[in-house]
Amino acid sequence: MKSIYIWLPFLWVALFLASCKDDSKPEKTMTVPVSPKYSESYRPQFHFTPEKMWMNDPNGMVYHKDIYHLFYQYYPDSTVWGPMHWGHAVSKDLLNWEHKPIALYPDTHGYIFSGSAVLDASNTSGFGTTENPPLVAIFTYHDAERKKAGKTSYETQGIAYSLDNGDSWTVFEGNPVVDVPDSTDFRDPKVFWHQESSKWIMTLVAGDHAEFYGSPNLKDWELLGEFGKDTGAHGGVWECPDLLRFEVAETGEEKWVLFISINPGAPNGGSGTQYFVGDFDGKTFTTDQTEHLWIDWGTDNYAGVTYSNAPDDEKIFLGWMSNWQYANETPTEDWRGAMTLPRKLDLMKVGDGFQLFNYPIEKIETLVSEVSSKSIGLEPEATERIPVNDLMQSEIRFTTASKDFRMVFGNDAQENLVFEMNGADEVVTLDRSRSGLTDFQEDFGEGVQSMPVPDLPEGSYEVRIFMDASSIEVFIGEGQYAMTALVFPKKPYNLLQITNTSDAELLIGDLTISEVKSVW
Ligand code: FRU
Repeated sequence: MKSIYIWLPFLWVALFLASCKDDSKPEKTMTVPVSPKYSESYRPQFHFTPEKMWMNDPNGMVYHKDIYHLFYQYYPDSTVWGPMHWGHAVSKDLLNWEHKPIALYPDTHGYIFSGSAVLDASNTSGFGTTENPPLVAIFTYHDAERKKAGKTSYETQGIAYSLDNGDSWTVFEGNPVVDVPDSTDFRDPKVFWHQESSKWIMTLVAGDHAEFYGSPNLKDWELLGEFGKDTGAHGGVWECPDLLRFEVAETGEEKWVLFISINPGAPNGGSGTQYFVGDFDGKTFTTDQTEHLWIDWGTDNYAGVTYSNAPDDEKIFLGWMSNWQYANETPTEDWRGAMTLPRKLDLMKVGDGFQLFNYPIEKIETLVSEVSSKSIGLEPEATERIPVNDLMQSEIRFTTASKDFRMVFGNDAQENLVFEMNGADEVVTLDRSRSGLTDFQEDFGEGVQSMPVPDLPEGSYEVRIFMDASSIEVFIGEGQYAMTALVFPKKPYNLLQITNTSDAELLIGDLTISEVKSVW
């Protein structure tokens, strides 16, 4: 039996009418001037995707003169991975994007693999002037011929600069700037200015560990230290590092966090991003952390890094919403690859340790339609069925103190995506095995994704979910735990069922189901 502790039927109806797309109105493509290109099946409406063709990692994320630049691994000739370029887009709010021409093309040194970009404010490189300081991109050259020939040192680091805030780029004639004999899988440089040692610090990966290089001018680099051969998860090659300084919320102490993406070896298979909390002395990173920590436990958040030079030193993260297990086979047509929502990172003290919280940036609220909220209560084993016109472009948000409930997203094709919180095991699971198209690759629908949530607060906490055409991002405890996954339902999910799986009453407070506006 169902008990409703605030049960106002008219409000209930108003909530879901307000939160649904209105059937009586013409279809979105007719009312909103969306480019037909952005209305294909599975095309996200409030996430960044390339106009067409293949995209993987976010690259060169840098803020300068009111503009957030996003470069990305791009292959303009196909929807599968190939010779890498840097695609480019710009935004003022990290939500609405303008596509720009390709920034970097493969050259005689190789394809342009992942890397970063910085504002060289004091013109240490000499590429610009102090009045017009350059943006400098630092990236990996991947020499596919050398690799094919079985030679080492097929990856070197190069730089390029822009004097017009990213509109045009000049490749440095002295490239490569880091070329190490006998190196393999030596890539993905992430650079920042380290005030204490008056040096640029480059973190990059070398197979099974990270290396730190220092430079006064972004051109001449020396090896300073290395980290990680015997620490952390090593199920696959290390990729896409990021090293950032945090002031711990509440305690104010300084800690450094090192991100390392690994592929394969993530907790739910394939690609994932682990992090370490420790210290950086200007030369190397150290930690006494023994457990493996992950930024996001879902299958589809990889190669994520943060913005350089962001206002107020905020740590803004974007990841690639895919997994190398099936990235080349996902069922999209003339484009492939999306970024996560932009997320703000905070380092929190939790118990004796630290935890990295990641949560959508506040500005996302500007896209979420206002709706009134509703609270419901459910007796043990009771289910609330909530029909909604279309959940595929929505935010679902509520608070609860219960740790035992199930949410099923279903559609008229009898497909469902099952999210479950299990208090006894302190675990959250996501089962997409019957969520829609899964057979494009054998691993996609396999198994149930799980995320341990041992440190959730005792009392009430928030569950916030964003669905966008072919993705679900779940944030629990305002970013304490995050889970991101791709889904490809054949029809839009239009039914949400919430079941109380505990033997006490389940209270769901301030539930809203809101439409999220398209940015395209
Ligand atoms: C991570 C990665 C990087 C590499 C790039 C190539 O997804 O493998 O290590 O630079 O993708 O596209």
